[in-house]
Amino acid sequence: MTHRMLKQEVKHRIHVVFDRESKGMQMHYPQMESHLEEESPLENCLAQLNRLVGLTQIREFVKEIYAWLEINKRRRAVGLMTEQQVLHMVFTGNPGTGKTTVARILAQLFKEIGILSKGHLIEVERADLVGEYIGHTAQKTREHVKKALGGILFIDEAYSLARGGEKDFGKEAIDTLVKSMEDYRNHFILILAGYSEEMEYFLRMNPGLPSRFPIHLHFPDFSKEQLMQITEKMLRERQYRLSLAAAEKFKNHLINMVSKSDQPFGNARYIRNVIEQAIRHHAVRLLRMRYPSKDELMTIHSEDLVFSSHRKEQKVHSWYN
Ligand SMILES: Nc1ncnc2c1ncn2[C@@H]1O[C@H](COP(=O)(O)OP(=O)(O)O)[C@@H](O)[C@H]1O
Ligand SMILES: [Mg+2]
Repeated sequence: MTHRMLKQEVKHRIHVVFDRESKGMQMHYPQMESHLEEESPLENCLAQLNRLVGLTQIREFVKEIYAWLEINKRRRAVGLMTEQQVLHMVFTGNPGTGKTTVARILAQLFKEIGILSKGHLIEVERADLVGEYIGHTAQKTREHVKKALGGILFIDEAYSLARGGEKDFGKEAIDTLVKSMEDYRNHFILILAGYSEEMEYFLRMNPGLPSRFPIHLHFPDFSKEQLMQITEKMLRERQYRLSLAAAEKFKNHLINMVSKSDQPFGNARYIRNVIEQAIRHHAVRLLRMRYPSKDELMTIHSEDLVFSSHRKEQKVHSWYN
């Protein structure tokens, strides 16, 4: 296999199979992102942020934080007063709305501007922190804090730490986290994430907490137009595209999903799962062809799209494929 073919092979493999987190990709295969080659790591972070669909307020806010930190740095350099920077955050929003993605970009961004030394993200949930006997929880929680030093500790569904009330070990995890925030001040950033209502309730129930988390970002559900943009972006990144009929089928499905009022839907992870499954169906279909063209190798047809929802879909009237 020539070097070029090998490179293409690797590129193909990353995009299709390993395209979970773009950060990891760029770290291990920087030469593959040729359009990023001239960007500084900081520009790269901001570009990643800009490439996200929607999330306008979040992007603006992140830029504000960035500007504020940068100017504080310059003020300090000339001996001016600066405010104390507490950067622990609460992220609220439904699953698949970009919370982890933004946290990961933030970790890198903070590293680039010198707030964090490593810039990695450790993502945990209740089961990672809460132990089975007295003292076990504090130990488990401290271990994760240690791993997160120099980066961000991201606790998903953080409200579940308050699930069992006073006697639950979740309380011990919260106390340990609060203590770690004092002990390792400026050495890691803690982000608590979860559904809006649950997180508000959680913060109300723990009156000592809100003042420790001055930054609160809400991640709204994506609109159907945004979900379609995300679909196209994810396919483009993987060098696939939808046929006209497939695009129509996808759009109708999204209209259906979003308009279902009893269950908010704005989930980019669902889109990713549908796309990955469609890519597998496409592969099985194409394996039956002897010489698929480049176009065929790239194009997802409507028959490749299978949606897990059992709700009836709008009929696709189409004469083209
Ligand atoms: N604004 C966005 N634009 C494009 N893709 C997105 C966006 N937000 C999330 N995604 C993609 O959706 C998937 C789920 O996002 P994630 O950050 O894990 O959501 P959450 O942490 O809120 O559950 C990831 O594959 C991510 O790349
Ligand atoms: Mg997440």
